[in-house]
Order: sequence, then structure tokens, then C-alpha cells
Amino acid sequence: MLATWLPLALAAAPLALAAPHHSSPNALSRRESSGQTMNLMKRASHSKANRTTAWAAKQAARLKSKYQVAAKTSDLETRAAEGSNTLVNLNSDSTYYGNLAVGTPPTSYNVILDTGSSDLWLAGTTCTRCQGVPRFNGDDSSTFANLSQPFSIQYGSGAASGSLGSDVVQMAGFEVPNQAFAVVNRVTANLLDDGISGLLGLGFNTIASSGATPFAQTLFEQGALTQPLFSFFLTRFLDVLTVADDIAQFGGQFTIGGTNTTLYTGDIEFIDIPAGREGFWTLEMTSLIVQGSTVPVASANRFAAIDTGTTLVGGPAAAIADIFAQIPGSQKGTGDLDGFWVYPCDTAVEVQLGFGGGKSWSVSPKDFELMPIDRFGLNCVGAFFEISLGSSSANPSWIVGDTFLKNVYSVYRFDPPSVGFAALSDLAQGLNVVGQAQPSPTIVPDPVRATADSSPTSVSGTGLGGSVLDGAASRSRAPSVLLLGVLALFAFIL
Ligand SMILES: *[C@@H]1O[C@H](CO)[C@@H](O)[C@H](O)[C@H]1NC(C)=O
Ligand SMILES: *[C@@H]1O[C@H](CO)[C@@H](O)[C@H](O)[C@H]1NC(C)=O
Ligand SMILES: *[C@@H]1O[C@H](CO)[C@@H](O)[C@H](O)[C@H]1NC(C)=O
Repeated sequence: MLATWLPLALAAAPLALAAPHHSSPNALSRRESSGQTMNLMKRASHSKANRTTAWAAKQAARLKSKYQVAAKTSDLETRAAEGSNTLVNLNSDSTYYGNLAVGTPPTSYNVILDTGSSDLWLAGTTCTRCQGVPRFNGDDSSTFANLSQPFSIQYGSGAASGSLGSDVVQMAGFEVPNQAFAVVNRVTANLLDDGISGLLGLGFNTIASSGATPFAQTLFEQGALTQPLFSFFLTRFLDVLTVADDIAQFGGQFTIGGTNTTLYTGDIEFIDIPAGREGFWTLEMTSLIVQGSTVPVASANRFAAIDTGTTLVGGPAAAIADIFAQIPGSQKGTGDLDGFWVYPCDTAVEVQLGFGGGKSWSVSPKDFELMPIDRFGLNCVGAFFEISLGSSSANPSWIVGDTFLKNVYSVYRFDPPSVGFAALSDLAQGLNVVGQAQPSPTIVPDPVRATADSSPTSVSGTGLGGSVLDGAASRSRAPSVLLLGVLALFAFIL
């Protein structure tokens, strides 16, 4: 299992990162009845030209990894609850982050919320490439325990490493007093930026490189959640030209232990994760429709990881070619655009994806159109790109990221293991508005507690990297690099 999950180049997030922040969070906060809302910051507008240059400068791939592990639940008294965390949307939908607090006294950190991996990690004070972001210092927390086990993680264009520790982690009104996480001291360039200190993996423990049970899964196993699930609403600013690269906007809402019923309408369609595939939030893709025409999904390539931590949608080369075959005038990208396709910007492309034999969900043409590649706006890069995650049948072939997830309310359910989608409410669709207030994180005085009984049983110090990951990692880098080239070109033309 360990090795088979490794190739997970979910790491591939092409448009994954961000640019530096200079502002600090405002101090607004609001207590919810059973949880807490945490909001963050926003910045002033920049020009479109600025967006492209900074995007280009800040490309980086997202980390992902995998693993083994078993965790047991313990008999803890917990009260069931739900809580929420207001998200921040960075760089025109490139990254969505929330906030959690670690240590005693608790200190807040912004973290990417990533359903495509299962480890929590934060930059440590000795991290040389993490300047400018809040960093965790175990010496400042009376409850920090250094587990003195090495940790390393691979992502599309590099790696991060450090050591494992354990401390109190609070988020959205919940607390796990002994959450294992990695304090990272080495990262590749541009991995952390924009005030983001790390990443919270929301996948299953079976792919946790730390061997630890992830925060959300612990809450579920300890009966702390009203409903055994968590949910996302993600905003869209990609089509808003005045939104600059490094501007943080309202990013949506993360709810744990329930759903936010104001954000969707109708039923949630739950689709079971195929047996044995819990790890990533994996579904079978059963329907792919482009401009009204059905594109076949090869049976061998039907598994898709539903991944909030990946910006775009990656799929097998043949399927991506089939998608663009439905769009007159489209061409395979070459050179720096290898892995991407280019099509006439004046074509509104509607792709629909369906999973587990359920309904087909539309991706807005606004999300399909990633960006123009010329100053006249004639040709555009599509948001569906080629990715190869290795030949192992245990790997998903598709990474269904934010390009799709912005179009639905998505729900990740532990029991029975499944992913649900619902139509966005009018209210939710009306929240893609620049300049909304974004209160800052708060630390709750009386969080709902669940104790993890899952100190890491194994560590990936050396097991993670290596040959298995390399192939995926290098392949997955291409889109990133290419997009970088495109953006740089665009900026130059302007
Ligand atoms: C980009 O933004 C910076 C401020 O962050 C500003 O100084 C610069 O003039 C902007 N460049 C363009 C092309 O708008
Ligand atoms: C934990 O201990 C290891 C040595 O075993 C050290 O290298 C690491 O920096 C320590 N981590 C923290 C966060 O203090
Ligand atoms: C539901 O989402 C809306 C929009 O983000 C937010 O204003 C509201 O506070 C959320 N409700 C809860 C209970 O979190």
C-alpha cells in the first residue's frame, strides 16, 4: 500500500502557489453556537498584468504523499458538534487556505486545506526557506512533545523535511490535544508564501506519511462530529480580471461535523468510495461530457481523487486529447505548454463530470478558461491538463481539483466512506464578490476535544521519496513549469 500510493503526483497542482503578504489579519472574529468561524485577510487590488507576473513567479507544486498506518479509537468523552472555518482564496483560485492554532498557549497558523493528502505540517523556526511566514517553535509551547522521528514529504517540484512532534491542535472549535504533525525545516523554494505556514491534510490515515491519524479523522473516530463528514464551498475569482495574483479574497467555507445548508440547494448526492480505496477521497469517474458530447472514460483510468489542494483538473493524456477534440480550433500545447491544450477563447467550453453512475456536474466555462496566452485574448489555456500518476492500478488517474470543486458544494464523509456533491445555492453563487470582509482567526476558549490514540507507528523519513515518487514528481512538474512559461510570456507581451 505504501509504495503504491507514493506516485501520487497529486502533487501536480500546477497553479498552486502564491505571493508574499505584508498585511496582517484583521482582528474580527465571531463565535458560532457549536463551533467557530475564522476569517482572514484580504489585500488591495492589483492589475491583471500584475497577476500574471506574480503568478509566474510563484508557481510551485503542491505536496502530497501517502502511507500506511492503523489507528484505534479510545473511549473519550466528547460532545458532538460542528464548526466552520472561513477560507481565503489566493491568487485567483490558485490556493485556498484556512487557519488553525497549535500549542500552549495556542498560536495561529494559516494552512492549505488539502483533501489530497493526510499529513499536517508546519514550518519550523529553523526552516531557512520559510522566511516571512509564521513559524512554529516547540520551545514556545508547554505542551509540545518532540517525537524525534524524521519526516519527509514529496511534492511535484521538490520536497520538505523535518521531524515529527505532537501538540494541541485547535481548529473550527475542535481540539485534538495530542495531534502528531511535522515541524518542517527544509522546503523547496516557493512552497510556503503568502503567510501560509503549512498544510492540513484531510485524507485518510492510510496515506499519512507521518503514520498519524489526521486531525479530522480523529474527530470522527472519537465521535466528536455531529455528522461524520466535512464540507467545502470554494469561491471563484478566476474570471474577475481585477483580482491580482497575490490578492487574498473570501475563499469560501469549510465546515466540519456538518454542512452549511445556506450554501447549497437540493439533495447531496453521495457517491461511495470504491472498496479499499479510502486514502485519497477516490471516486470512479463514470461520465465525461464536453460541449454536450460524451467522451468515453477508459475503465482502467476511471479513478479520480477529489482534491481541494490541487488547482486544476489533471487526467490521462488520451482523455484530455478527447476533451479538446470536442473544441474546434484547439491545439496541443508545445514547448512550455506541453501537457496543456490551447483553444479559442471565444468558445465557451462546458465540461460535465459524473461519478459512481450519478448525475453529471457542470464545470463553468469561467473555470475551464484558465488564461489567455496572447494580448488579444484569442487563444486560451484550458484548465484540464495531462497528468500521469504512474502505472500502478492503485493510483487514481484523475486529480479533480478546484476547477471542478468551485462549481459544487462538496462533502467528504467518513462513514460510509463517500464524497457528496450538491448544487450551489444562489447565496453561495453570490459570494464570488471582491472585497468582502474577512475576519481573522480566533482561538476558542472551550473547544470540543477528541484525543488521538494514534502516535505515529512508522515514519517515512526515507521511505517516502525515492524511485517510486520520482517519476510522478518529475512528470507532474511539467504543467507547473509550462504555465510559468505561459504567464511569463503573457507578461512580456503586455
Ligand atoms: C504590481 O504591483 C506592485 C505592488 O505590489 C506595483 O508596485 C507594480 O507597479 C505593479 N505592476 C503592474 C504592472 O501593475
Ligand atoms: C526534535 O528533535 C530533533 C532531534 O532528535 C531535532 O533535530 C529537531 O529540531 C527537534 N524538533 C523541534 C521542533 O524542536
Ligand atoms: C455558512 O456560510 C456562510 C457563508 O460563508 C457564513 O456566512 C455562515 O456563517 C456559515 N454558517 C455557519 C454556521 O458556519
